[in-house]
Amino acid sequence: TGHFTYDVGYGSTASTKSAITYIDGDQGVLLYRGYPIEQLAEKSNFLEVAYLLLNGELPKQDEFAAFENQITHHTMMHESLKNFFQGFHHDAHPMAMLAAAVASLSAFYHDDLDVEDPADRKLAAIRLIAKMPTIAAACYRYSIGWPFRYPRNNLEYVDRFLHMMFEVPSEPLTMSPVAAKALDLLFILHADHEQNASTSTVRLVGSTGANPYASIAAGITALWGPAHGGANEAVLKMLEEIGTPDKVETAVKRAKDKNDSFRLMGFGHRVYKNFDPRAKIIREMCHKVLAELGVNDPLLDVAMKLEEAALKDEYFVERKLYPNVDFYSGIIYKALGIPTEMFTVMFAIARTAGWISHWIEQHETPGSRIGRPRQIYTGAGVRDYLASGNR
Ligand code: CMC
Repeated sequence: TGHFTYDVGYGSTASTKSAITYIDGDQGVLLYRGYPIEQLAEKSNFLEVAYLLLNGELPKQDEFAAFENQITHHTMMHESLKNFFQGFHHDAHPMAMLAAAVASLSAFYHDDLDVEDPADRKLAAIRLIAKMPTIAAACYRYSIGWPFRYPRNNLEYVDRFLHMMFEVPSEPLTMSPVAAKALDLLFILHADHEQNASTSTVRLVGSTGANPYASIAAGITALWGPAHGGANEAVLKMLEEIGTPDKVETAVKRAKDKNDSFRLMGFGHRVYKNFDPRAKIIREMCHKVLAELGVNDPLLDVAMKLEEAALKDEYFVERKLYPNVDFYSGIIYKALGIPTEMFTVMFAIARTAGWISHWIEQHETPGSRIGRPRQIYTGAGVRDYLASGNR
């Protein structure tokens, strides 16, 4: 049966060394390049965090200006990519369109596909970070039958994205600064999380020498699952299904029932066994955003009741299950007018910064080799082929 370590779900296998993100799951610590997530959330912005993840250091003023300039230079998507969208059915899930559109980038931008060339790798990273919001907004607008908007390069990253999402011709978009700030914060908190399933996927695909767009597209599809980035969409659907705080108790009961496949979405984490530091920040932001936007969402009451009920329930306490980053993020997205199906796309925009930083680190690390897990074989022993009439 083989002589390999059996580690289902890679709970105790380090697949790589990395200098990008540090997590201490017992203490609830998350650092990007050494900087605590709480400080970055309060003082930085998403584009600066993307620079930090990519380059290892916070940018000086002129470095940031140059980076922002490069990003704005690459925000357009190839005009032909629009035709690509036209091929999708009108009710296609935006994550399906996003994964396909990003994979197709390697068909549009061939001049930066030498994975051995540091300049090519950097250019692909810039292109991806720059184009993700443009492509994401196109996914949304296609799904509601609206014409695409070109990126307004006089705006900052998050504002530009919100304009591409919601702007209507000849009507100036009045977006509350609170909305932009909240989205920027969510992007910072989602930007990286070391060797999670999608990042590990990017690295595994990257280890074959596949081009950066193919590698990131693989990350997007891994992110889509409800146990990973799809959880934010699943949380909102769950809260809507529960509907009112008085139904919370039944939901908690169902989540504990091993014969019921229902889980509390937005609860639990492989690494955090004390609290998810991102959830703490998001929870606070959620209350603030709703108050400042004057939104009174009854789902917030359901979420708070659910959190309270689970946190004092023996089942959840014993298993160290706490709200994770996705528990409150959906309520914020909803308050910003972002539809539920777009939630995981939001996550993907932010995580692109982390994915491509890991992909670059992998290619910069001498001695990297193709990822090739082994298995414990449990199938039939050797046997002879029988003609179909004799089986
Ligand atoms: N509701 C009910 N029970 C749960 C939950 C939950 N959300 N999460 C874990 N458990 C139970 C699980 O049934 C198991 O119980 P037992 O020991 O009796 O069999 C125990 O807790 C350990 O769970 P596990 O599935 O072995 O833990 P894992 O580390 O493999 O899974 C997880 C981690 C995040 C996939 C899981 O907690 C989960 O499915 N949570 C809901 C989905 C979710 O919110 N995902 C987002 C994660 S954070 C953002 C991201 O990564 O994208």
